[in-house]
Amino acid sequence: MPETATAKPASAAHELPTGAIFDPVPTALDTEIPSERRIMALLNGEGLTVESVESKVGPSVILYAVKLAEGADPRKVERFIPALSLALGKTARYAGIMGDRVGIEVARKTRRTVPLSRFATGDARGDLSFPIGESVSGLLDGDLASMPHLLVAGTTGSGKSTFVLSMLASLLMQHTPDQLKLVMVDPKQVELSAFADLPHLMRPIATDSNDAIAALRDVVAVMGVRYSTFKDAGVQNLSDYNAQNAPMGRIVVVVDELADLMIQAGKVIEPLIVRLAQLGRAAGVHLVLATQRPDRKTFTPLIVSNIPARVVFAVQSHHDSIVALGRTGAELLTGKGDGLLLTVGMREPERFQSPFIKPVELQRLVTWWTGKYPVAPEPVLEDPADTVEPDPAAAALRKQLDDGYVPPWKKQRPSLVATGALTPDEVLADAGFTPAVVDALSEVLADRIAALTVAKIHDQLGGTRP
Ligand SMILES: Nc1ncnc2c1ncn2[C@@H]1O[C@H](COP(=O)(O)OP(=O)(O)OP(=O)(O)O)[C@@H](O)[C@H]1O
Ligand SMILES: [Mg+2]
Repeated sequence: MPETATAKPASAAHELPTGAIFDPVPTALDTEIPSERRIMALLNGEGLTVESVESKVGPSVILYAVKLAEGADPRKVERFIPALSLALGKTARYAGIMGDRVGIEVARKTRRTVPLSRFATGDARGDLSFPIGESVSGLLDGDLASMPHLLVAGTTGSGKSTFVLSMLASLLMQHTPDQLKLVMVDPKQVELSAFADLPHLMRPIATDSNDAIAALRDVVAVMGVRYSTFKDAGVQNLSDYNAQNAPMGRIVVVVDELADLMIQAGKVIEPLIVRLAQLGRAAGVHLVLATQRPDRKTFTPLIVSNIPARVVFAVQSHHDSIVALGRTGAELLTGKGDGLLLTVGMREPERFQSPFIKPVELQRLVTWWTGKYPVAPEPVLEDPADTVEPDPAAAALRKQLDDGYVPPWKKQRPSLVATGALTPDEVLADAGFTPAVVDALSEVLADRIAALTVAKIHDQLGGTRP
């Protein structure tokens, strides 16, 4: 049985929400006038000979691109930034060398909100494209499929949850529950609760560390099954597989606050995250991990080195900025969605104002989906026997089940592994999985929770649930 088949009304296939989800955006006049002359005078007063200053106005900052006279040292500009901030009465930040100019970002007096609806949300530009925000140069897009995971950091009120909500809303404008499966972890229990009834959820939103561990283990198990399916189909990854077969959806795992989980169960959570980060891309599994406390206990060296893409909002100290971004600078952001993006291939982080979706718009979007799929799809694991050329052993097992055979795990579950009656590998081998699947899954089969995961896979093969 393919995932979500029971819940999908035929008419709803591939139908997506429209722009009517969003309120009309009034065309607001941007009235903030850049003060190039002032900047030039202040720099000149510092003994730096400035040839010219150009400016670009963004929603939360104005970028001044300063052309220094030949021979002038750009590092002097960098050193002058704190004094410049004081003189202007606004937070200024050194934005690095830009061609033959030096960039200085100065916070605006009033931030201009960037409505999510300004982005073409219905029109997929990548597998998992979503709007990062608006920079001084225009709208900034990202694609989670190529990132392929994302760390999000920022102190309280900096805009992490707002960013995650608009990312999810954008993905939900573009993907049906068959194409996108979501796993959410929300220890605060309020940040993602608007999504509780969404048909895209692979399982209920996890709110404590035990739930989160179970959720991550399920995803690792699905990833193992996918790898085995790819192997049987002779392909390397999800895109190649989907080009030739009934497509498998991408899986996005969102953790709104990682710190709590790492404090409570870091020893278990970290290896699961690292495994997903290392192997997820090919299997279409993507992680978005947010935290208020970007310290080394949460963004551990292993997690940070395996997830290079970062969105960092205002942090409390330059130490936090270094952990989250690999450099200072995020401590000078102004909060409420003022952020820096750093992905592979970017030399300097890019500043942006993240998009905003109103609660009422989000509610409309969720209601649209729950209306289309009134019965939430069963949270099930994938069955490799149905999605590809069947694994011969799994097919043989299915036939046995059809003929009335009751396998041992049905009689004794869920404690086969817990009681030590069978090792995890034996349970899988006994279920008729090939050695490749056993290999892929054995890592997650360390204890009773994992045994339940196995039982779920068995149920899928058996086609019935207890
Ligand atoms: N992109 C944005 N545009 C406009 N306002 C924003 C934006 N992002 C955040 N804000 C404002 O800042 C408030 C706090 O944002 P948010 O809840 O996203 O912060 P957070 O980083 O998740 O904080 P916490 O760590 O406490 O959960 C929002 O309620 C909203 O008013
Ligand atoms: Mg939050």
